[in-house]
Amino acid sequence: MTATAPARQKAHSLSPPERRALRSGAARVLFTNWTGASTVPSHTLYPHQWSWDSAFVAIGLRHLSPRRAQRELESLFGAQWGDGRVPHIVFNPAVPQAAYFPGPDFWRSSRAGSAAGAPRAVETSGIVQPPVHALAALLVHESDPATSRVRGFLRRLYPRLAAWHSYLATRRDLGGGGLVSILHPWEAGMDNSPSWDGPLSSVEPVPASAFRRADLVAGSATDRPTDTDYGRYVRLATAYRDHGYRDDRTYAFAVEDPGFNALLAASERALATIAEEIGRDPEPHLARSSALTGALVERLWQHGSGLFLCRDVVAGERVGERGVAGLLPLIAPGLPATVAEALVRTVAGPHFGLGTETVLVPSHDLRSPTFDPARYWRGPAWFNTNWVIERGLRAHGADAMADGLAGAMLGAAAASDFAEYVDPRTAHAHGATRFGWTAAVTLDLLARTGER
Ligand code: SER
Repeated sequence: MTATAPARQKAHSLSPPERRALRSGAARVLFTNWTGASTVPSHTLYPHQWSWDSAFVAIGLRHLSPRRAQRELESLFGAQWGDGRVPHIVFNPAVPQAAYFPGPDFWRSSRAGSAAGAPRAVETSGIVQPPVHALAALLVHESDPATSRVRGFLRRLYPRLAAWHSYLATRRDLGGGGLVSILHPWEAGMDNSPSWDGPLSSVEPVPASAFRRADLVAGSATDRPTDTDYGRYVRLATAYRDHGYRDDRTYAFAVEDPGFNALLAASERALATIAEEIGRDPEPHLARSSALTGALVERLWQHGSGLFLCRDVVAGERVGERGVAGLLPLIAPGLPATVAEALVRTVAGPHFGLGTETVLVPSHDLRSPTFDPARYWRGPAWFNTNWVIERGLRAHGADAMADGLAGAMLGAAAASDFAEYVDPRTAHAHGATRFGWTAAVTLDLLARTGER
């Protein structure tokens, strides 16, 4: 298969031998990217452990080795900070500093984060990423409950997951309306989404001469954020670091992101099930999950646009750009049926075009002048967000669309050698290949679609 094979048609025709080959290929990626206790997203572009990558990787790894999937999450939570935050990167000391920017010498977590309880024995970043972990932990448990119980997997992880969610609920509700704010575009996991263009516009970029980007050595510049983006990322991260990673003041960037909050709502729901499994009270988690979904609808639902929008907490206004984050509340538990129906229509409508203009859901609005099918989170389709949408479509009874999407994802993963992201219209590969979560969600979809 070539990188430009039409993904949709190919997907529907994957034969049993092709599915087997795809499964072995995906397994090979996860085994190659495994470092002994965790999985790198990509040996070239991202040679450390990333928080939400690990959660998605665990969801796939559970089909190969539930034990290894447990370790993936345990190693990430081994680097949790005393205040409950789970850092977005856990650095591998064996990897040279120059292999990734910004590395441990930039974040200086063990010193700069000591007041916030940063671990002393491991270096990490000081910001967070979307909280998919409780959902991943539950799915990992369900793949092999016996081994999970014998190892006390959920019993050990539960207090850590609860502390993580409490950190977000208590320290990060900067808008005061029951939603988490992100303090940096990297925290959304969607670094250069056009949704940040407005909120970032008043942030003065650090000159490009002040840092050396390692990503441009391994990746193509047209697929990546610009130097101006990086200048702003560095400015914001430096301010947070130099204030001891404390959440007790206002920073230049604070945004309520529907993707982040929807994943938290789904994870709180999963944490309730985890609590029940280990004999703890699920009620507080159920209540938080419902409150999050309620706050999402109240604060971020844009009826006229048929999706959720980000809210710039600093400027006190909604952001007009339609991003894929605005569709992720499809997995928020207890979403009102009218909202869910409108979201399903939006997925297939002119702005995301699923099934007509696109084979996978793009990361950004096809109709926006800011749309770019190659540049990271400004338009390419990503496999993790498509996995969330596939699940959400199914949760709301849109099974035919979910089946089509799952098939297209498998076709695109095969055709692109497990690309980091693809052109949403052609499935042409961009970014890294043999990418961790692309292989992981492929394994999960293969297992789930094989059952039916
Ligand atoms: N996504 C960022 C990068 O490209 C970091 O989290 O390095």
